[in-house]
Amino acid sequence: MSLTSAKPLRTAIVGTGNIARQHAESLQRLTEETGGVELVAAADTDPDRLAGFTSEFSIAGYADTHALLAAEHVDLVHICTPPGAHTSVALAVLEAGGHVVLEKPATLTLAEFDRLAEAEGATGRYVATVSQHRFGSGVQRLRGLLESGAAGRPLLALCDTTWYRDQAYFDVEWRGRWDTEGGGPTMGHGIHQMDTVLSVLGPWTSVSAVARRQARVTDTEDVSLAHVAFENGAVASVVNSVVSPREESYLRFDFEYATVEVRHLYGYTDTDWTVTAAPGYEEQVKAAWTAGPADVRSEHLAQFRAIAAALHEGEAPPVTTTDARRTLQLVAGVYASAFGRTPIAPADLGPGSPHYALMQGDGPVW
Ligand SMILES: NC(=O)c1ccc[n+]([C@@H]2O[C@H](COP(=O)([O-])OP(=O)(O)OC[C@H]3O[C@@H](n4cnc5c(N)ncnc54)[C@H](O)[C@@H]3O)[C@@H](O)[C@H]2O)c1
Repeated sequence: MSLTSAKPLRTAIVGTGNIARQHAESLQRLTEETGGVELVAAADTDPDRLAGFTSEFSIAGYADTHALLAAEHVDLVHICTPPGAHTSVALAVLEAGGHVVLEKPATLTLAEFDRLAEAEGATGRYVATVSQHRFGSGVQRLRGLLESGAAGRPLLALCDTTWYRDQAYFDVEWRGRWDTEGGGPTMGHGIHQMDTVLSVLGPWTSVSAVARRQARVTDTEDVSLAHVAFENGAVASVVNSVVSPREESYLRFDFEYATVEVRHLYGYTDTDWTVTAAPGYEEQVKAAWTAGPADVRSEHLAQFRAIAAALHEGEAPPVTTTDARRTLQLVAGVYASAFGRTPIAPADLGPGSPHYALMQGDGPVW
């Protein structure tokens, strides 16, 4: 369906800090591209931030979510507050009849996430979680390659998010605290690439992990390492760090007949990918890889296109609550394994687990 004929989704942003600018610019680009969305308002509890943002984007401003929802009819609200406020703002939006786009990490805990998923079911509105790296053409091609069978079975993946955040980064009040950020680089940084791996390899079955505070003064880990097994038989090694001076986001997938790799930092383009076929499989791997889409950078705009298109069709927008929960559960699994010094399966992380209500459970144990 062409979005130009559909009524634009009246959209607002709650939280007008760093990442909100990316949301506003992407939404305005989408308005130009399709007319399918219209950014109309924002809310922030910090009046100065709000004023700067609303004047830059020529939209109405409100002191908090409730004032915004009382004054404006909105179809969709993008939540760009720190993670600790995600659940309460999202519940208010759902109850007011709006759909939600939620920045990562969706919630601080699995318990909070389940309250949101329940509200989604009860209201008939949708919650989509931001995970922009699922939407670049490279990952779309990778999924196509897997589905085509041309590269054979997935055997092994490497997933390294080795970034650098100096101590001053943790001066921001909500960072590095279990009660406001829900974790360190596993929850706040590596979650992007872990989510991408899960979007390709599907459900995970067990995780064995280590978490450490190597260098930063923070409540949470600054490094974690994990071995993850998947239902489809693949295994992955995952490294999450904020103490790595040469920063990189690296993914590697070894299939029976091909290795596919991407090296980037905060977003990839097609040129960041390499594909190496096993001897004798060059032609079939190349044909399957190049059959996929091209020229889509992994950025918010790419996901927002998919979200708007799904909502205009009356469908659940990506990334759905089922998808986002699987990733959050893997994060909880990393902490449960690291602090309990034992392998963890998804079934270990139900309401009876201390890691269900708090990411760190009864830990942390360093
Ligand atoms: N997808 C990505 O690549 C990406 C990148 C950076 C940050 N993020 C995520 O985006 C979110 C925001 O991060 P940021 O760096 O922009 O934070 P930030 O601190 O720069 O901005 C957050 C804003 O929310 C406002 N706020 C706080 N509580 C509020 C409430 N209850 N109601 C209304 N406004 C409120 C603050 O005043 C502030 O202006 C986090 O969840 C973060 O993990 C995602």
